[in-house]
Amino acid sequence: MSQPSASPKASHPRWLRLTHWLNALAVLVMVTSGWRIYNASPIYDFSFPKSITLGGWLGGALQWHFAAMWFLAINGLVYLIINLFSGRLKRRFFPVSPKGVLHDLSAALRGKLGHADLSHYNQVQRVAYLFVIVDITLLVLSGLVLWKSVQFPILRELMWGYEGARHVHFFAMALLVAFVAVHLVMVALVPKTLLAMIVGRKEPV
Ligand code: HEM
Repeated sequence: MSQPSASPKASHPRWLRLTHWLNALAVLVMVTSGWRIYNASPIYDFSFPKSITLGGWLGGALQWHFAAMWFLAINGLVYLIINLFSGRLKRRFFPVSPKGVLHDLSAALRGKLGHADLSHYNQVQRVAYLFVIVDITLLVLSGLVLWKSVQFPILRELMWGYEGARHVHFFAMALLVAFVAVHLVMVALVPKTLLAMIVGRKEPV
């Protein structure tokens, strides 16, 4: 059972808002510079349009990618550590079950899912947010293999070698982009959540 919050208005603490927006910025830089790096040596039969990539050329894109990766990894760790040790991770994201997700998904599709209490995530949100946490972790780990392949032999072998890690990295990126697209639609459908993620509560103070 999730605990009721002390105040129904204060749903998103400051550390959460800060790490979330830094993370969103880091993801934007990582993905768009990553597309430019991919274009230099594509593994599939297509390239990304240059106009939506960052860095201008391979060297520039690598600089952006390497700068933002520290940002993403350290900021992500801070988010995870605070979430874990404050007990928030357990409180907000569990329990979650296939039955609960199906129930909330069907309620959402029928327009019957309430959003009055922003300190409570429904099971579809829980599973989506847990998924993206695991996906970004996989992106960082496969990125480590691509960056320092020799230094991480076990990780490399777990990802079917260097070439395998490129596919894992690409696939995890595609899933992250898909998450962000769905995430933005959801935010647009319930705009008061955006206000909460900016100022920490449903109404500005
Ligand atoms: C770009 C990568 C992004 C990722 C990986 C991401 C991930 C997440 C995660 C994991 C949460 C739950 C945080 C928690 O409670 O611990 C969340 C919440 C939220 N995100 Fe994002 N986000 C991204 C971008 C954005 C963008 C661009 C926007 C808005 C334009 C946005 C708006 C929100 C809002 C409003 C919530 C709160 C939802 C609610 O209270 O129901 N996010 N995001």
